[in-house]
Amino acid sequence: MLGINKPHKITLNGKDYVLWQSQNGEIFALDNICPHMQAPLSEGWICQETNTITCPFHALEFDGNGRLYKEGKVDNTPITQPLELIVKDDCIWTYAGLEPKIPIPDLISKISEEYELLGVAGEKSIKADFLSNILVNYDYNHQNGTHKELFRIVSCKVSSFENKGYYAKVEQEAIREENTIGEIFKNPALGIMPKVMNNILEYAFPSSTVFFAKAPIGQIAQTHILYPETETQTKTFILMYAKSKNPFFKLLFKRAFLEAANTVVEQDTTAVESLYPREKAKIRLPGEEVMFYAEKLYREWQ
Ligand code: FES
Ligand SMILES: [Fe+2]
Repeated sequence: MLGINKPHKITLNGKDYVLWQSQNGEIFALDNICPHMQAPLSEGWICQETNTITCPFHALEFDGNGRLYKEGKVDNTPITQPLELIVKDDCIWTYAGLEPKIPIPDLISKISEEYELLGVAGEKSIKADFLSNILVNYDYNHQNGTHKELFRIVSCKVSSFENKGYYAKVEQEAIREENTIGEIFKNPALGIMPKVMNNILEYAFPSSTVFFAKAPIGQIAQTHILYPETETQTKTFILMYAKSKNPFFKLLFKRAFLEAANTVVEQDTTAVESLYPREKAKIRLPGEEVMFYAEKLYREWQ
């Protein structure tokens, strides 16, 4: 998602940062605000030779440690804040300068050992708070409403739930109705989705949820990532992993799987953005203890 020598802006906890990756895979991140006259560095450009970012306003240059670079020399002291990063497998993590309270999960490392990354889907900034977005991932009953269209899920049951600290695992049985030929034509992934799906979900609270699903010709590990951009906006994207003995699997279904993942995110976004402020529920549905577990972790972590 980063590309090479391209400034990439991210927002985290209400602050903007600029990230870039050099030719040889080094990754840098700085506060996005230029210390001269506050232009957004992410609108600037990267110099391949010096590995510096140039501000788009008056063209001052900074290295990855936030030091001013002029005429082939860097200053001793940084004048803009670098952001500390932890690169682990396919992901870049950061605590944004805060004290770490939750370890970086190894869920994605485990998946990338076994599965192949098909691509990224459903990248979106959702206009809703972090907790509301987290809870959707732990809510099994929303499939019946939110994902009724297209996936035609008519029932979704939690058959087992285990948790250990921030890690949780759920087995679910989802029953689907038949899709129309037109729907399958538009999205071939629907054609290989069985009617009774026994899915596994693994969670590394609060950032990652992996949805494991099996089809006769292969398996997918759909990894949902979430992080708070601001108090009222949450970032999400999906890392789609797959494995199959059939070499055509990837070729045939790559686009379809990424499309289907886009649809899932669209549907969740519409649902979560349309909610009124949270109140105490007057009715309860089965399987909601998984959601209470996540909410409790959130409250304690905060
Ligand atoms: S604002 Fe960045 S160089 Fe002036
Ligand atoms: Fe959903």
